[in-house]
Amino acid sequence: YGSLKSIKRAVLVEVGGVHLTNDSAENWDTLWGFKARPDDILISTYPKAGTTWIQEIVDMVQQEGDPHKCARAPIYERMPFLDMFPPEPIPAGVSKAESMPSPRTLKTHLPAQLIPPSFWEQNCKIIYVARNAKDNAVSYFHFHRMNQGMPEPGTWDQFLENFLTGKVAWGSWLDHVCGWWEAKDRHPILYLFYEDMKEDPAREIHKVAQFLGIDLQESVLNKTVQHTAFESMKANPMANYSTLPSFIMDQAVSPFMRAGTVGNWKKQFTIAQSEQLDHICAPKLQKSGLTFRYQL
Ligand code: A3P
Repeated sequence: YGSLKSIKRAVLVEVGGVHLTNDSAENWDTLWGFKARPDDILISTYPKAGTTWIQEIVDMVQQEGDPHKCARAPIYERMPFLDMFPPEPIPAGVSKAESMPSPRTLKTHLPAQLIPPSFWEQNCKIIYVARNAKDNAVSYFHFHRMNQGMPEPGTWDQFLENFLTGKVAWGSWLDHVCGWWEAKDRHPILYLFYEDMKEDPAREIHKVAQFLGIDLQESVLNKTVQHTAFESMKANPMANYSTLPSFIMDQAVSPFMRAGTVGNWKKQFTIAQSEQLDHICAPKLQKSGLTFRYQL
């Protein structure tokens, strides 16, 4: 990190009507012009939907279940985060990606309409993970508290208000999950749910392997299930972001691997807030045919 000793909290800037962090907005032309390669795999999520989890699963499947290979570097080095332009001297996600040999697996939080067009042109395979809005919102709130580069979250009540109106980084959860849901009818997109992964990880890992065209041995499957369980990942420095300095992520405030469950939102939401969220989300979800589970 060189002389870098602190980072600034981002401010939100609209790009195409979507709130993004100022670093993405300031580098928009670079991001939009990113050149995907046909054999790229793109992992896309709304923030805190289980990105790191699916990344570790994909890497394990790609590395034939070898945890040592997956320990070659922290997750953010193994799979560059395209829409991340940190302060100097930390390289931007797109620069890391450009210098990476193929095949690459890349990460983004962009809504479907904002991903660099080359991903569509190259017909890249995309894996999307969606998580129910309530757990997703709570996780995002605690992430804002601990990640010193995110905007100030304010109180939970204030944060939820912003979450529900899309005034958070990467915009509205509802637009994000619905936009990618529609996109999957036109492109090779595997659309997964955090709740399904929690319910039956082996079943979902199978889907990933099948989608990637990888023949999954029983032993590889078992090792992947074990290696990507919450407690394993919480203890894994190459997956738990403990390799970042505390002036970026302060895990004493809230650990990156925080709860890792379905239904943790009940500890944070009031009944009124839960009903408000249902009321806001129901019409668009019903129209799109998307359903979420809020507990298992
Ligand atoms: P919580 O804050 O609810 O615990 P992302 O990787 O998209 O930033 O998402 C982080 C969320 O996924 C956190 O949710 C984190 O605990 C959870 N998570 C990470 N790895 C997981 C795993 N192996 N199993 C279940 N949840 C996991």
